[in-house]
Amino acid sequence: MGRLDGKVAIVTGAAKGIGRAIAVEMAKEGAKVVINYNSSEAAAQEVADEIAKFGGTTMVIQANVSVADEARGMVKKVLDNWGRVDVLVNNAGITRDKSLRKMTDEDWVSVVDNNLNGVYYCTTAVMNPMIEQKFGRIINISSYVGQGGNFGQANYGASKGGIIAFTKTAALELARYNITVNSLAPGFTLTDMLSKVPDQVQDQIKARIPMGRFGMPEEMAKAVVFLAADADYITGQQINVNGGVYM
Ligand SMILES: NC(=O)c1ccc[n+]([C@@H]2O[C@H](COP(=O)([O-])OP(=O)(O)OC[C@H]3O[C@@H](n4cnc5c(N)ncnc54)[C@H](OP(=O)(O)O)[C@@H]3O)[C@@H](O)[C@H]2O)c1
Repeated sequence: MGRLDGKVAIVTGAAKGIGRAIAVEMAKEGAKVVINYNSSEAAAQEVADEIAKFGGTTMVIQANVSVADEARGMVKKVLDNWGRVDVLVNNAGITRDKSLRKMTDEDWVSVVDNNLNGVYYCTTAVMNPMIEQKFGRIINISSYVGQGGNFGQANYGASKGGIIAFTKTAALELARYNITVNSLAPGFTLTDMLSKVPDQVQDQIKARIPMGRFGMPEEMAKAVVFLAADADYITGQQINVNGGVYM
């Protein structure tokens, strides 16, 4: 008996990293999982294959969530095939790190489009079916950087801080329909995103983490499953899974 038996979950950006771990963990708990990807088709199929090995059910869908029609088209496809959406994990995200003095308008707009606008498009696409079924769990992956700031990440920090603020208002508006909306704020986590940071900077970051190590994608996934499966009376909150780097 899984904690998400009978549930349909969409995980955006699920081909790699934290999204991949969330998709696998949710499938282990019995959810039917939509593995969304933008460019990593082969990696997304690998996640589906991994889940199939233990008997899980998935649907792989390509959609760039920063394009409104593609985000809405993905949700329509899920509804057409599986009839409902119970859980949405807005995980897709990118970085374009530069100090403000070097940042271009394109660096700013692309990060806000992918990280924040995508959350808006996907949330509003699942909202009406969730209202009709009087059940929904929406989990938005923010970041410690949206809380504490980080040198070279004004665009990313603004997008992630925006997610936290968006989460609170969405939680207020949707609570009456038994839809909870929470954000998970990971600290520095071992994925491709972190591996783009030069080794020397990674060492400096690690020195600032009270627990003395980076987080693992699976540790983020466990907290997301908790919010999806066990947190019926928690809404509008930020759950920090960050080794103590921001308290
Ligand atoms: N790693 C960290 O230290 C850390 C810390 C705090 C928060 N986070 C957040 O956690 C989330 C996952 O990050 P990660 O570290 O797992 O990064 P990652 O390994 O780079 O994976 C991110 C995934 O997001 C997908 N994606 C990006 N833009 C998309 C779009 N417009 N539409 C659909 N998919 C899109 C990418 O898809 P394709 O590969 O298919 O293009 C990619 O597979 C992000 O929101 C990130 O900001 C990460």
